[in-house]
Amino acid sequence: MKLMAANWKMYKTRGEAEATARDMLRLIGPDIPKDRQVLVFPPFTAIEAVAKVFEGQAAFAVGGQNFWPKDEGAFTGEVSARMLADLGCSWALAGHSERRWVMGESDELVGEKVAFGLAAGLRMVLCIGEKIEERRAGKVEEVLDRQLEKGLAGLSRGFATETLAIAYEPVWAIGTGEVAGPTEIAHAHTHTREKIVRLLGQKAAATPILYGGSVKPENTSEILSLDNVNGVLVGGASLTGESFSRIALA
Ligand code: G3P
Repeated sequence: MKLMAANWKMYKTRGEAEATARDMLRLIGPDIPKDRQVLVFPPFTAIEAVAKVFEGQAAFAVGGQNFWPKDEGAFTGEVSARMLADLGCSWALAGHSERRWVMGESDELVGEKVAFGLAAGLRMVLCIGEKIEERRAGKVEEVLDRQLEKGLAGLSRGFATETLAIAYEPVWAIGTGEVAGPTEIAHAHTHTREKIVRLLGQKAAATPILYGGSVKPENTSEILSLDNVNGVLVGGASLTGESFSRIALA
């Protein structure tokens, strides 16, 4: 299964998100291959509207971009995994680089979110990726190892592997137009696959690993052809149905 995911970050109102979801359904729905699934991560305020558009469409799913890892409580400004599920989410992101480096989330908090989301019945995408200075210092594998170890720390070896995905998003490729090269992507994904198996056992070898960072219609086919790439997580190029449909069907 290839996961073709759209992260709409903080870019759409409820009405805008609903309109784009309808465009995506119209442009992708009739032609989507059986081995592909579209995941859309709208802003919180648009989740319910998008979930309604995709209702009954098995190839389309909705997820939350974030949540607080508690069932409920005095956490002003936060939403819970339970609330995301209540709106129609079956997925959630954790550890997106903007949560780590703009909002200051620690590896440990990311790990708590992954474990809590899975336990709450969500399918979780753990986002990992190095900064340019870490790449230049030859620390890519060290960074990915740390983020995987901490991000997956709460999982038992018996957890259901089909509920987890990883998104490798080199921070320096996000929003810059500088997509990582094929060698860089293949190396990071292969290393990630090997690390997941060491951490969680051989059954985790099937965990989907998505690439994110300046994915565009023009580069999607090559990215999907690389070893250990099982989908993409798209920001800017997912904001219109037209552009994202060319990615989802590439
Ligand atoms: O989560 C995906 C996002 O961070 C990638 O953004 O705009 O480089 O596709 P973009």
